[in-house]
Amino acid sequence: MTTMSGYGHDPGPVSVSTLGATTVTAWVEDAIAAPSMHNAQPWRFRFLRAENAIQVHSDLERAMPRADPATRGLHLGCAAALFNLRVAAAHAGWAVRTELLPDPARPCLLATVRLIGAARPGAGVEDDLAALYPAIRRRHTSRQPFTDEAIPRAVKDDLGAAALLEGVRLVFPDVWHVHMLLDLVRDAEGRDASDTAASEELRRWTRTGPGTAQSASDGVPDYAFGPRRLYGRAPVRDFAGRGGVPGRGAAVFENAPQLALLGTAGDRPRDWLLAGQAMERVLLRATLDGLATSLTSQALEWPELRWAVRDPQSAMGFVQMVLRLGYGPAGPGTPRRPVDEVLDIV
Ligand SMILES: Cc1cc2nc3c(=O)[nH]c(=O)nc-3n(C[C@H](O)[C@H](O)[C@H](O)COP(=O)(O)O)c2cc1C
Repeated sequence: MTTMSGYGHDPGPVSVSTLGATTVTAWVEDAIAAPSMHNAQPWRFRFLRAENAIQVHSDLERAMPRADPATRGLHLGCAAALFNLRVAAAHAGWAVRTELLPDPARPCLLATVRLIGAARPGAGVEDDLAALYPAIRRRHTSRQPFTDEAIPRAVKDDLGAAALLEGVRLVFPDVWHVHMLLDLVRDAEGRDASDTAASEELRRWTRTGPGTAQSASDGVPDYAFGPRRLYGRAPVRDFAGRGGVPGRGAAVFENAPQLALLGTAGDRPRDWLLAGQAMERVLLRATLDGLATSLTSQALEWPELRWAVRDPQSAMGFVQMVLRLGYGPAGPGTPRRPVDEVLDIV
């Protein structure tokens, strides 16, 4: 599939210049600020100078065989990075064409972002992407309690529209559905806790203790765990598992969390790539709107629970992500691998 950055928009004839390594390096630095499951950063980028193109590849060595055997979550993270790349290009004034899964023989080649030329000023969708740029570095997962302040309808509508721009539906479930969802997350938490392989995988991607948490370049550092839950039903994964983290406080979380479901009609790699881009578009938009955000995939990691998460009345075929949104403290920045570990220039 071939799309302009922002689906279906053709900026018309423009003069094509050559992308430089410095520019591409800066764009990839923006790309890797994206969220990824357990902060595994399962991506690689390849800049093909001669073709003025940047490829996004998945890095299967950073997959989660227990929690994400089909690599659905891995695709979501890589697609979020792809979306940031599109935003960075738009911010720098470049028009790009994004091709998803361009080579059926190479499933790890997730996308090619091809430089088309300078974006025309005022070219609708490009401007829309560029406006999201300041949120790339501001967006962090917040595992803190949020307040009970309701998100205004207009803000929710904007977030829904943002998802639709990427061809994906965002639904704010009704009260009964939220309750059902929270039960399913609780069920998943119980299953995770009694599953040794799941606990070990989680431990492999957590970084605890002052030396480790401060120096790691991947994984979830203990300072991003947020407080332990005293009460409340907000679906916030406890990365500490059964282990304790010295000095970690406890807090009361919201009882009526504001959740949103991101869903697609299909459930193939291409759908996952659309969903990951939509997820990042929604998260960046929400960040600009002053919302704190977190993601919760626990109930989606058990196939029988994932199926039950969807509203049977809705047209949403497959839930790809559960987002928790609200007003509250921003999360801390988490580490990323240096760009030269993930970018090849050829
Ligand atoms: C597919 C996917 C699944 C995720 N699942 C969860 C989750 O269940 N609980 C959670 O707290 N964070 C989840 N996250 C968020 C990551 O843990 C987070 O993005 C990563 O640690 C980097 O931190 P940052 O988002 O603050 O940059 C998920 C992210 C992705 C892309």
